[in-house]
Amino acid sequence: MRLIFLGPPGAGKGTQAKRVALKYKISQISTGDVLREAIANETKKGIEARSFMEKGQLVPDEIILGIIKDYLISQEGKNGYILDGFPRTINQAIELNHFLEELEVKLTAVINFKVENGVAIKRLGGRRGCKSCGALYHLEYLKPTKENVCNVCQGELYQRNDDTEEVIKNRLLVYERLTSPLIVFYQRLNLLKEIDGEKDIEVIFNEIIAFLEERL
Ligand code: AP5
Repeated sequence: MRLIFLGPPGAGKGTQAKRVALKYKISQISTGDVLREAIANETKKGIEARSFMEKGQLVPDEIILGIIKDYLISQEGKNGYILDGFPRTINQAIELNHFLEELEVKLTAVINFKVENGVAIKRLGGRRGCKSCGALYHLEYLKPTKENVCNVCQGELYQRNDDTEEVIKNRLLVYERLTSPLIVFYQRLNLLKEIDGEKDIEVIFNEIIAFLEERL
């Protein structure tokens, strides 16, 4: 199974990708997480990516495409994967198609999570993530049992530094301008499944599973 999770910032891609990956024992890559790790480790890629991410702009394709190519090769012969946050431009989608052709494999589906900007802004403002295991929480919608402590591994929770109001607004603009054209791109390839991302987390998860069971 090879999936893409598409949608604006705060649509719930990461939340659902983690659950779906666990259910099907497949792998998940969030290009955002890979970049944040590179920044934390002060690698060359991280240093280059930092200024773009802080402003809510897209990181240059050369960095992202290198990460994805290595990942796709590493996944050959395994159960499958979810690409969360990639591709984000038509150029990235075209390059992805080339990589997949080279590897002689095909995408299973592209799940597009639809949410209004107001919902995304509220979600991102209250998001907290675990520093150790990456589990996601929300101050209102998905509270940890103990304040600031991860339910899964007891790690400390933190707020992403691109989850400020100004940067969130820019990320949403960038999504509209550069990423939303991918909806039509994948519709034309007959791969797109639209999901109402404003429903309850569990309801959305069940809809994705029902769709995948039908498609498989
Ligand atoms: P990235 O890390 O990918 O961020 P994003 O796309 O902006 O998406 P988010 O992770 O913010 O949102 P999400 O949809 O995963 O929502 P989540 O599940 O967390 O990218 C960050 C940056 O990296 C980019 O700006 C760019 O600079 C760079 N980058 C990354 N990929 C790139 C690429 N391919 N090319 C170039 N640059 C790239 O949920 C959000 C919150 O809502 C959580 O608190 C969650 O608990 C809550 N929530 C989720 N679902 C629900 C629900 N149904 N109901 C109520 N609350 C919910």
